[in-house]
Amino acid sequence: MKPNTISKLGHSALRFVLALGLACIWLARATAADTEYKLVRIEPASQSIRVRLPLTDVSGKVRPKERTPDGYGEPLAPTKTALGPKHYLEWQIGYDTREADAPNVVKEIQFVRKGETKFGAELSKMLVDALRLGVISTNDLLRERDRLAKLSEATLEEREGITTEKTPLELKSGTLPDGFTRWTQKVPQFLRETEHGWIQIQLKPRQRAVGNQAMVYVCIPMTRVLTADGKPRAPGPARTKETVFYEFTKANAGFLLDIVRAFAIASKQHNEDMGQILGRIVDNGPARKL
Ligand code: ADE
Repeated sequence: MKPNTISKLGHSALRFVLALGLACIWLARATAADTEYKLVRIEPASQSIRVRLPLTDVSGKVRPKERTPDGYGEPLAPTKTALGPKHYLEWQIGYDTREADAPNVVKEIQFVRKGETKFGAELSKMLVDALRLGVISTNDLLRERDRLAKLSEATLEEREGITTEKTPLELKSGTLPDGFTRWTQKVPQFLRETEHGWIQIQLKPRQRAVGNQAMVYVCIPMTRVLTADGKPRAPGPARTKETVFYEFTKANAGFLLDIVRAFAIASKQHNEDMGQILGRIVDNGPARKL
């Protein structure tokens, strides 16, 4: 091959690699923008903490559901359901992360769990922002911290269990095929209902391990969520990628502290984590470092 043919080939290859690189960057940006709505965003405002929640991420940490008498709720298709008074958002709220650069991280809240460094996030950020804005006080946090030891004496994960009972069929429901018996599992659920929303603690079998784990969910009625301009959201189906807002103010600061208390009674580990997080917040002071 002649040298200038080789050089032409080299230039084409370079152009191709460059174009491919640019396409990858564009795709990565487009994908990130596409899923940004799924992020829970904690946004401090002048006298409130605004939490942005996704309305249509049916398999994520914030799921739209219909209320059911058993309290577990029924998942629904948000864009096909007129979301209104019967519906709520079930938020599996977090309080820590392994990644220092994850969304809603407070890098100054660092603690070690089982040898691993954790950073405060989500609920931790809500508490830090709420304290800074005067939505809650240092005394509120000190009071919660003082309660932890008492609450850790009887935590649900350690005390409660899923029970299994033999439950014969009632006569009128017919009989089972020969050789089969009927068993039913009972899973306890714990509810803290308030006028602002409710908190659920559910026991679930641990993934990849034995025993159960206590899961904490914050449940927010659709009647309490706001649109971006701060007005109540009118009932109706969700728009694609719609997000809504929930505000913590002085009026519902107790609900924020209820979440801390729910973790404190959920398990010994959660209780200990709350102790570490509250300790870091009150020891650092509201406006100084955090
Ligand atoms: N760990 C962090 N957040 C949790 C939650 N909401 N439920 C159970 N464990 C958790």
